[in-house]
Amino acid sequence: MLTFVATVRDLSHKGLGVVDHPDGRTFFVRGTWPGDEAEFEISLASRKYDEARLVRLVVPSKDRTEVICAHRGYLPGQCGGCPWMLADYHSQLHFKRKRLVHALEKRRVSSSVTVPNVMPSPKVLGYRNRVQLKTDGSRLGYVSEGSSVFAPVDDCVIMNETLRGLFHDLRSTLPRDDWSPTGGHRWSFLDLDDESTLEKIVLNKRRPFRQGNSEQNDVMRRWIREKFSALPAHFPVIDLFCGSGNFTEVLSELGFTNILAVEVQGTALEALTQARFPGVRILPLDMTKKGVWATIARSQPHAKALLLDPPREGLEKRRGLFKYLDNLEVIYYISCEIDTFSRDAADFLKHGWQLQEVTPIDLFPHTPHVEVLSVFTRR
Ligand SMILES: C[S@@+](CC[C@H](N)C(=O)[O-])C[C@H]1O[C@@H](n2cnc3c(N)ncnc32)[C@H](O)[C@@H]1O
Repeated sequence: MLTFVATVRDLSHKGLGVVDHPDGRTFFVRGTWPGDEAEFEISLASRKYDEARLVRLVVPSKDRTEVICAHRGYLPGQCGGCPWMLADYHSQLHFKRKRLVHALEKRRVSSSVTVPNVMPSPKVLGYRNRVQLKTDGSRLGYVSEGSSVFAPVDDCVIMNETLRGLFHDLRSTLPRDDWSPTGGHRWSFLDLDDESTLEKIVLNKRRPFRQGNSEQNDVMRRWIREKFSALPAHFPVIDLFCGSGNFTEVLSELGFTNILAVEVQGTALEALTQARFPGVRILPLDMTKKGVWATIARSQPHAKALLLDPPREGLEKRRGLFKYLDNLEVIYYISCEIDTFSRDAADFLKHGWQLQEVTPIDLFPHTPHVEVLSVFTRR
């Protein structure tokens, strides 16, 4: 092992500290922040771009702050869920915006827009309304960063009050033999949200998707309300990746009479069906399959507006959109992953669309994630 002292000059694309070795190599270091002067360790086999390990801080960055979670860390068995908790929130937001700007520039899609500051989360602790926990039958926890090692926790400060209460109630019911992992698995999972009750928690059963930060979800719903209220209510609309109808409900409330809501997940479709939002038709469809756009176009041939809120993978199948939806005037793309968003945006631009607006919003403080609300119109 070799060590060297350097100052972290930036954050990498994945949110790790970037340091330059005196010999010209570049290293990425977990648990560091720009401005940290520190000693780092590398192995003899380290390559030109590689990970290094923080040995000790010499002078901490002025943007560092106290980490208030005892479980957070980078070693196997420690929780990797809040890697940016070491930094002051203002600095986190600065680097979230920088990640987005960089991703858009790399794909050359940013020339038509100015990226505003990231809209902060009203709560930086106690904001999460849902989590996926792991359990080995006697403990609850998460998984360590970059590994599949179980990381037991006895508390989690980012859960909102209700969820945290449920977590502690659940913890007091352990150990449970029937929750021990089976079939070679190291843990079972539990989808928990602040609308669950102890009796309703089911092992290894996914609950429908839900935006994880309720306050910021209200902001997103308001954004959609504002955008769609500028459109005529007779416009045929597609709400793609609609989940259990979080945004569909807003469109329906605005009086849109012809909304096609598309989703694949069973429990989300059940909830959507039960909601019976006026003006909504449901199309169960797996968007990774061939020919999906032809199917959508058959159900909504004159679509004028598309609302798109895909999972991290983004809009993997896009070609049919350009081929089949000739009447489309506007696309509202809500994204939770800037790489796939930038990739899709670049493709939209290639097919005659232009990016009108991007609004970054923070749903997950203490992580590198950025949610993007965007508008595309025909060029
Ligand atoms: C980011 S969530 C958005 C849900 C909804 N708009 C909301 O705000 O709650 C993405 C949704 O896409 C759905 N989804 C994931 N993969 C899909 C696929 N291949 N085809 C259709 N829907 C999919 C998920 O089940 C999830 O409900």
